[in-house]
Amino acid sequence: MDRRQMENAIAGVVRHLGASLKNRGLYPPTHPLVRTPVEKCRMELNPFFADRSELALTVSDGTLVLEGVPIFQLTSSLELFMARLGAIGVPAVIFERGVSVEDIELFVRFLHETKDQGLPIQEIKERLARWGVTHIRVTAAEEKEKDDFTLAREIYGSALNAVVRALKDVRSGKTPDGAESNRVVREMSGMVSRNRDAMLALTLIKNFDEYTYNHSVNVSVLSLALAETLGLSEPERIGIGVAGLLHDVGKTQLALDLIRKPGTLTVEEFEEIKKHPEEGFAILGKMTHIHESTRSVVREHHMRFDRTGYPRPEPEYRMNQHSFVIAVADCYDALTTMRSYQRARTPRQALEIMRKLAGKSLDPDLVELLERSLGVYPVGTMVRLSTMEVGVVTGSQDGGTGEPQVAILFDRSGNPLAAPQGVDLKESDPSSGKRRRLILGTVNPLMHPPVSMSGVLQAISG
Ligand SMILES: [Fe+2]
Ligand SMILES: [Fe+2]
Repeated sequence: MDRRQMENAIAGVVRHLGASLKNRGLYPPTHPLVRTPVEKCRMELNPFFADRSELALTVSDGTLVLEGVPIFQLTSSLELFMARLGAIGVPAVIFERGVSVEDIELFVRFLHETKDQGLPIQEIKERLARWGVTHIRVTAAEEKEKDDFTLAREIYGSALNAVVRALKDVRSGKTPDGAESNRVVREMSGMVSRNRDAMLALTLIKNFDEYTYNHSVNVSVLSLALAETLGLSEPERIGIGVAGLLHDVGKTQLALDLIRKPGTLTVEEFEEIKKHPEEGFAILGKMTHIHESTRSVVREHHMRFDRTGYPRPEPEYRMNQHSFVIAVADCYDALTTMRSYQRARTPRQALEIMRKLAGKSLDPDLVELLERSLGVYPVGTMVRLSTMEVGVVTGSQDGGTGEPQVAILFDRSGNPLAAPQGVDLKESDPSSGKRRRLILGTVNPLMHPPVSMSGVLQAISG
């Protein structure tokens, strides 16, 4: 499509949306004049998705903008649509490739029935999720200018909120909304594709008091990274991500002091804990928007690669391969988290332990894949540089594949810097032409006070 065709097509998309919206005010929702424009809109979107996975429409100063270029083919229904968006408080609408006629219909209904004006963007997002709109997102227009770490932090935060809500719902006897889990997992999946390290760095921010919540989000992020490296399709990746997010939801059925109990469990207590995968399976069965395979994965996440775990599988039982992905992510996150009975392992130590479990409780190919996808110096690894400074790996160039990015925390004499200092390892010394800093190797993190990854990331992105 050339620019002109694109403009025509997008004007068509919006005109149809506007027509459906207008007719909603005049006819019953099932009337062809409401439904047909929605179907036409879906058709007009098709050519765009040939070469992009999403299409962003922005309303800026009352003008419709497509990928930075204003569209001036004004008609009354187009204007009506933009006015409604503006009034509610939506500055940008993003259509994703998987968008269905139902999504568009719900979105139009949402615009029609939402009478509030100028809602905060977060509130709009939550409402759309509750309405079950899955492949249309809204964003604040300025979000695009945020750096990846800020964006990743927000996405992580909203996933954390979703887990807290879901687990609290279950505890109070309510069935949580699966659409909400889907929404946050899709956001995380997008961020993992865009900048894997920004997202993975956040999994190292451990919150001791809220272990289950952070752990759930971390397992989801790690599983999404693995699923992407495996080259799985989008629906499979989202299914795995949702399974990661909800894998321990069955623990809500256990007594709180049992979950929080430090140290070893009695045989009876362990028997109780062993029920959580089945409990989770049951809870997911009641939720909407949950895939059958996601449910099985939650049930199987402790079955183990060698099938010696729980619930113990019958000999002929066929396990879902995706369960092994969650198991690897679960293990890595547990090892790198400090618990009252266990110090936190560094990413490298965790991988070393996992290598020993490969072929037994864990799928050996996936352990290798995790290692590869985390790189030689995983985010959060403390490293000594050739200048004798000590820093922490905060990411890598190109968001996953390139050279590590390092923030220096201690000077060559071991004194902490006032603030972490991000350095470019490619920077060369003008006198010799050689690189100023090289990574010599990792340092034992126990030699230094614990690092707050969130503080470091905030300081260097700030
Ligand atoms: Fe579990
Ligand atoms: Fe877990």
